[in-house]
Amino acid sequence: MTLIDIIAASVWLMLPAYVANPMAAVFGGGMPIDLGKNFKDGRRILGDGKTIRGLVAGTMCGLVIGLIQIGLAPRLAASGVLTGFPIFQSTLAAYSISTILVVGLMALGALLGDSAESFVKRRLNLKRGAMFPVADQLDFVLGAWVLTFIFASVWFKTYFNFWIIVTVLLITPLLHLMANVFGYLIKVKKEPW
Ligand code: CTP
Ligand code: MG
Repeated sequence: MTLIDIIAASVWLMLPAYVANPMAAVFGGGMPIDLGKNFKDGRRILGDGKTIRGLVAGTMCGLVIGLIQIGLAPRLAASGVLTGFPIFQSTLAAYSISTILVVGLMALGALLGDSAESFVKRRLNLKRGAMFPVADQLDFVLGAWVLTFIFASVWFKTYFNFWIIVTVLLITPLLHLMANVFGYLIKVKKEPW
């Protein structure tokens, strides 16, 4: 496996989560998940930046990308691209309840992780949109991993080996920053982080 294979496999595996997060920003708005309620410390539970529409639309977008990937996987495998990595051969290479579940869990987990971070931010008295380095960049990765680890642990352990995990942790902050600067420039996001 070359470095390119590892990076490509990392992005491929994370794609439903990578798509879910920005799509929540694109389609989000309206009723907040916490319904505007406060926690017992008197501050918002999650805040206005976490909306039901963002959660649902983001999860759906991640799921759609995952379904496209499942459809593409056998073709990529057949074409001999990245054959060094099993991701393009077995589990993801067929539509089945379990693979559809996995990509759905990645997308939903990403947004639950993002909401969990907002919960922590509000407890720390950080306003909506305030910068929270490292957590801002990796919250959705951890959320996606936790959910797949719990509900699809065999899949998680098969594909997320040590080097993939390290690679994801290194490339995600970079991809996240680039996506957010882009989102800021096209006015989808209020802050460039
Ligand atoms: N968004 C949403 N619903 C979600 C997640 C995100 O509607 N479940 C939208 C909101 O409009 C949010 C934007 O995407 O403002 C950017 O998301 P994010 O940076 O995660 O939220 P912040 O506004 O920074 O809020 P917080 O401080 O709670 O992270
Ligand atoms: Mg933010």
